[in-house]
Amino acid sequence: MSKPHSLTVETAAKLPPLSPREVVAVCVFQGEPEPAGAGGEVLRAVERILNEGDFKGEAESTLLVHAATGEGARRLLLVGMGKREDADDAALRRAAATAVRAARNARAGRVNFIPPAGHEGPRAAGAVAEGAILGAYENGFYQSDEEEKAATNRLTIVTSADGDAPAGGDGLRRRVERARIIAESVNWTRALADEPGLSLPPREFARRAAEMAASVGLKVESLGVEEIRARGMGGLLGVAQGSDEEPALIVLRYEPEGAGEDDGLWAFVGKGITFDTGGISIKHGLDMYEMKSDMAGGAAALGALRAIAQLKPDRRVVAVVPAAENMPSGKAIKPGDIVRTLAGHTIEVVDTDAEGRLVLVDGIAYAKALGASRIVDLATLTGSIIVALGSHRMGLFSNDDEWAARLLAASERAGEPAWRMPVSDDYKKRIESAIADFKNYGGRPDATSAALLLSKFAGSTPWVHLDIAGTAWYDAPLPYAPKGASGAGVRTLVELVCG
Ligand code: BES
Ligand code: MN
Ligand code: ZN
Repeated sequence: MSKPHSLTVETAAKLPPLSPREVVAVCVFQGEPEPAGAGGEVLRAVERILNEGDFKGEAESTLLVHAATGEGARRLLLVGMGKREDADDAALRRAAATAVRAARNARAGRVNFIPPAGHEGPRAAGAVAEGAILGAYENGFYQSDEEEKAATNRLTIVTSADGDAPAGGDGLRRRVERARIIAESVNWTRALADEPGLSLPPREFARRAAEMAASVGLKVESLGVEEIRARGMGGLLGVAQGSDEEPALIVLRYEPEGAGEDDGLWAFVGKGITFDTGGISIKHGLDMYEMKSDMAGGAAALGALRAIAQLKPDRRVVAVVPAAENMPSGKAIKPGDIVRTLAGHTIEVVDTDAEGRLVLVDGIAYAKALGASRIVDLATLTGSIIVALGSHRMGLFSNDDEWAARLLAASERAGEPAWRMPVSDDYKKRIESAIADFKNYGGRPDATSAALLLSKFAGSTPWVHLDIAGTAWYDAPLPYAPKGASGAGVRTLVELVCG
């Protein structure tokens, strides 16, 4: 597999001299007669186009034009911003991503991006840089002609904002660097979640995590199958036992210098099902291939640590990813089987396709054993959350209002909105078993019963569960992203720790 496309982002106080195939990206607010931010020759060229009504400035739209200016022909890329009053960081990110993808289709080597008026500062530049790098992501790892897409590899943000603001301030360079770290970590996450099950079984997932950990200085404390068995993680083992691939418990740790034991340890627990066939309760074939991304929550937990290791906040964080492949076979767990989990509770496996909660309860118990004072779990857990919230909001469940509020605020700032759902014993009938402590499935609505089961293992530790089944995967190509993994959750976790 090749590396995800990188994009070098730099800033310049004014439009640099252009080589022939470069483009100048000019933002246009919807319904306004002038481009937002450009001046001089560029301004006049764009005004003519807008006056003709050839470009409306709608969000996620672009138009490439060749305009004659005093300095010769220029390739201008008009980038729709949507309405001026709606132009927030999320809109800037999407505009920059859309511009990079349009520039790539035009085989441009460099994009010179002029941010819209009113968005010239360091913060906006950060949003542009982040969006641009996210937009550069491609997942055609296995396409022979893939290298051609690497044509667009530079983005220059044209802004006169001060690049030398003091450290600790809101300096342009600091913002752009932070954006680069975060966006590259999101792309790292997406590349894992886009990887087919064949090339990313649990142990390879663990190896890729360890390779990343070495590159950014995280500690690796992962467990193999024998340790998983010896410790009694019956949920993780049960799900894995139908597969020829051994499970892994991937554990990465970030320890800032000087952080004491009593500063608390935050744990990110991510579902790491490298492929979910449903097991003996097998799924129908249609769209089953998407289940190669059923480890997106795990990849997001690891991707967040990748960014955190570089941003160096003063907070101890551990990522715990129970990884397994859910397969049907003569050795597979069967409906009606009972597993004994790390926490000691037994669970009746009513449906082998409700496997995420079986591995997560062991991940949560392990995080608590490591001393976690607060937990966030992320999982592509239920089809039910997609029915409830679609693909624009993740479901947020919690046993702690204060912790839930912090997550909601971080997700809002990150532009990854969440919607709080209930965790309540009203739903307990659906997880009560006649013959074990709990059962893993009790009918619909399932997202709430899955969350309730997880909450029994979180106990009194402040815990948030993010059901990202609807947000982790783009069903169709978008102007700002290819079809496939979205990297959902990474930016929320980074914002939580570093925001
Ligand atoms: N990984 C799936 C949930 C999922 C579905 C994620 C669609 C992304 C897109 C999960 O393991 C699952 O199979 N859930 C079942 C559980 C049910 C059979 C008890 C579901 O939600 O249908
Ligand atoms: Mn399943
Ligand atoms: Zn699953």
